[in-house]
Amino acid sequence: MILAGETINLDLQKLPSPCFVVDQEVLEQNLAILNQVQELAGVKILLALKGFAMFSTFSLLNKVLAGTCASSVDEARLGREEFGGEVHTFSPAYSQETLTQILKLSDHVTFNSVSQWQRFKPFCAQFADNVQFGLRLNPKHSEVSTPLYDPCASGSRLGITPEALANVDMAGINGLHFHTLCENDSFALERTIGAIEKTFGDYLASVDWVNLGGGHHITKPGYDVEHLCQTLLNFKNRHQVEIYLEPGEAVALNAGVFVATVLDIVHNDIDIAILDCSVSTQLPDVIEMPYRPEVVGAGRPGSKEFLYRLGGSSCLAGDVVGDYSFADPLQVGDKLVFTDMAHYTMVKTTTFNGVRLPAIALANGGDCRIVKDFGYDDFKNRLS
Ligand SMILES: Cc1ncc(COP(=O)(O)O)c(C=O)c1O
Repeated sequence: MILAGETINLDLQKLPSPCFVVDQEVLEQNLAILNQVQELAGVKILLALKGFAMFSTFSLLNKVLAGTCASSVDEARLGREEFGGEVHTFSPAYSQETLTQILKLSDHVTFNSVSQWQRFKPFCAQFADNVQFGLRLNPKHSEVSTPLYDPCASGSRLGITPEALANVDMAGINGLHFHTLCENDSFALERTIGAIEKTFGDYLASVDWVNLGGGHHITKPGYDVEHLCQTLLNFKNRHQVEIYLEPGEAVALNAGVFVATVLDIVHNDIDIAILDCSVSTQLPDVIEMPYRPEVVGAGRPGSKEFLYRLGGSSCLAGDVVGDYSFADPLQVGDKLVFTDMAHYTMVKTTTFNGVRLPAIALANGGDCRIVKDFGYDDFKNRLS
């Protein structure tokens, strides 16, 4: 396995740089946990493509997961063509054109507002033999402390509020969708379910399924899988509904690293290592969230002798990972390995500043194969 704490069983010199390396064995371990949840709780789990869409792994993932969840025509198409199983699509708003395509690609289509559902309901009726329809609801119960990731924050555009749902005709609606969590445990889900039942209890009786969204940190060490299963079973028994979960992060948690190379070392108040990657284009969550990724062999400032600021190779002044200390001085050519970089990374990369997209590799035991590398055309094709 690649990622056992500080050790890394990977021939870094043989890899292109920068490069995402996904570990099939960790994906399999995560899948085993998710499969246990499906079997013990009798629920279906979908892969949220927004979090992880490395389709060369789909033939592994689709052996266990029931399908994919999409937020756009292109994600729905990727799910349909490359993953198989069920395709569930939710988007904050559809145009007539995107909805027409999404209806042809999806098994479930969920609307974010009463106005969109009512506007498109007559059109959707002709797809009702093949497509189930849902409404995304907002129970106004926050469990997420970072506002950027809290769909229940005040003023959120995501999900129908209890006030907006009052007196709405539910004919034609087969299910309800909730996505309110982010990296949360099963106790946050239990509290959320309590809020859902309190706020929308009457509506649960009239639907066939409830999709409890993503944000469940199921594969994180220490997550109480037994409590999750019991919570889901109780919910299912109380309401006689089919339950879906659609995690992205939990599927690929800890299943990949990002390898970059030191290109130069400069000094301006602090030693700065300039890497051949870019945080703003290749690991944008580091800046957006923000958070501090772990680097194998490195510690917080002061914990080891040699301190460096790690920065990227775009021209953005803030293209900086953070300050890290190392036991030995860094040298030009050194490889740095960032951990837990499979989810919300390769799906978010851009070619800003002409920074080339990182290669993607798949490791399996001792084998490591480059499944994709990128070039000038990938930059040029986005422009005209
Ligand atoms: C509607 C919906 N479903 C599922 C997910 C996946 O969440 P996660 O990757 O945190 O499990 C998201 C993430 O934003 C989402 O918006």
